Amino acid sequence: MALSINGERLRSRLETLSRFNSTPGEGITRFSYSPEDAKAREYILSLFEEAGLKVSVDGAGNMRARLEGSVPDAPAVISGSHIDTVLHGGPYDGAVGTLGALEAVQAIAESGLPHRHPVEVIVFAEEEGSNFGSTLAGSKTLVGKYGVDDMKKLKDREGRSMYDLAKAAGYDPDSMPEFLLRPETVKAMIELHIEQSVLLESKGVPLGIVEAVAGIKAVEIRLKGVPNHAGATPMSLRQDPMVAAAHLIASIETLARGTGTGSTVATVGKISCFPNVSNIIPGEVRFFVDIRDVVQSGIESVLDGLAVIGQAVAASRGVVLEIVLVSESAPVVLDGNVLSVIEECAKKKEFIYHRMNSGAVHDACMLAPLVPTGMIFIPSRGGRSHVPEEHTDHEDIEKGAALLADALLELSI
Ligand code: HGY
Ligand code: MN
Ligand code: MN
Repeated sequence: MALSINGERLRSRLETLSRFNSTPGEGITRFSYSPEDAKAREYILSLFEEAGLKVSVDGAGNMRARLEGSVPDAPAVISGSHIDTVLHGGPYDGAVGTLGALEAVQAIAESGLPHRHPVEVIVFAEEEGSNFGSTLAGSKTLVGKYGVDDMKKLKDREGRSMYDLAKAAGYDPDSMPEFLLRPETVKAMIELHIEQSVLLESKGVPLGIVEAVAGIKAVEIRLKGVPNHAGATPMSLRQDPMVAAAHLIASIETLARGTGTGSTVATVGKISCFPNVSNIIPGEVRFFVDIRDVVQSGIESVLDGLAVIGQAVAASRGVVLEIVLVSESAPVVLDGNVLSVIEECAKKKEFIYHRMNSGAVHDACMLAPLVPTGMIFIPSRGGRSHVPEEHTDHEDIEKGAALLADALLELSI
C-alpha cells in the first residue's frame, strides 16, 4: 500500500528547523542543550502535538512521539535521527531523518490505514558529539552504554558535564534508568539520513539501502614536552611536542591507507597547543584522531600503528606520549529482513536504489545490536556534509520520506 507524504509540509518544516541556529549565514550550529536547541525542541514538540502523537522525553533529552496501533502493547516500529549539528554544519544532517520520520508517521495516521503495531518518531540528543567529543552520546544513554556516571564524566570545553547540561535544560538525568530501551518493546527501527559522501550522486541514484555502518574509535593524543624560549633555546636542547605531533600526524594517512581493508579512514580535525604562544616552545600538544572502518581490524590496525610510531617519536624527541580513548562504537551490519522490506517497497514504487555502506556513524548503530534496524540514504550534493554547503535536492528528500513511510507501514500492519 503506497502512502502519500506531504512534500511541501516536509520542506517548510526543514526550513523552519534550520532557523534555530547560532551561526546564521555561516552554516547551521545547534548543539544539544543550547538555547537554539531548546527552541528547536519546542518547535518539534509543537509538531508532535499537532500530529496527535503521545510524547515522552527522557533524562538525556531523547524525545519519542507515538502513534498507537490497534494492538497498543505490540512492539513499536520506530524511526528518527537527531537535530543537533556540528559547528557550522548543514541543514540536513539528522534533520531529514527526524522530520522525515514525522512526515512518514503523519502520513500513516492521515491515511487511516490499519496497523497493529504502534509507530514512533524518535529524536536522539547529542548525536554529533559537538559538546563532549563523544558521538552518539544520547542514543548511548538510551541503550545503557552510557550510565548516569558516564553522563557526569563527559565534559565540554567549559568543564560542564552532559549531566549538568541535561539538568540545566530541564531534563532529569538521574531518571535515565527508567527510560532504558527495552528491546522487546521495539519491532524494528529505520533511520533516514543523507549519505554524506559521493556514491549515490556519482551513480545518479536517488536512494541508498544501507547494509553496514562503520565503527569508530576517537582517541586524543597528548604529547608533553618542555616549554621554553623560542629564540634562546638551541635546536639541540629542545623537547618539542609540536614537532613530535607533526611526525605522528603525518604518519596517519599512510596507516589508514595501509590497513588492507580498503575502507579505513582516519582524520585529525582538532588540535590544541599549550600555551599556544608564538615565541614559546609548546609545553603540550593534544589532538584527536577519528578512526573509522566497517571492518574492526582496520580501526585496530591504525590504532596499533599510532601507538608504535607514537612511542618511537616520543622517545626520540624526549616527550611523553599518552593515548586516551574518547569514544567508540563498533561497526554494525544492519538487519536483512528490515532491508528487504525497504527494498520491496522501493521496487513497488519503482524507485531506483543502491545497496551500500555508511562511513558516517548514526544513532541506528546503537539500536542495531538490540533491535532489527535498517537505514535509508539520500544523496548529498558533491558528497559534502558537516559544512554550510551541505545540500540534498528536495525531490530526493521526498523520495526518501515516501520510501520510509511505506516501509514503516509495511512493518507495522
Ligand atoms: O561523525 C559522524 O559520523 C556523525 O555525523 N556524528
Ligand atoms: Mn547525522
Ligand atoms: Mn553528522
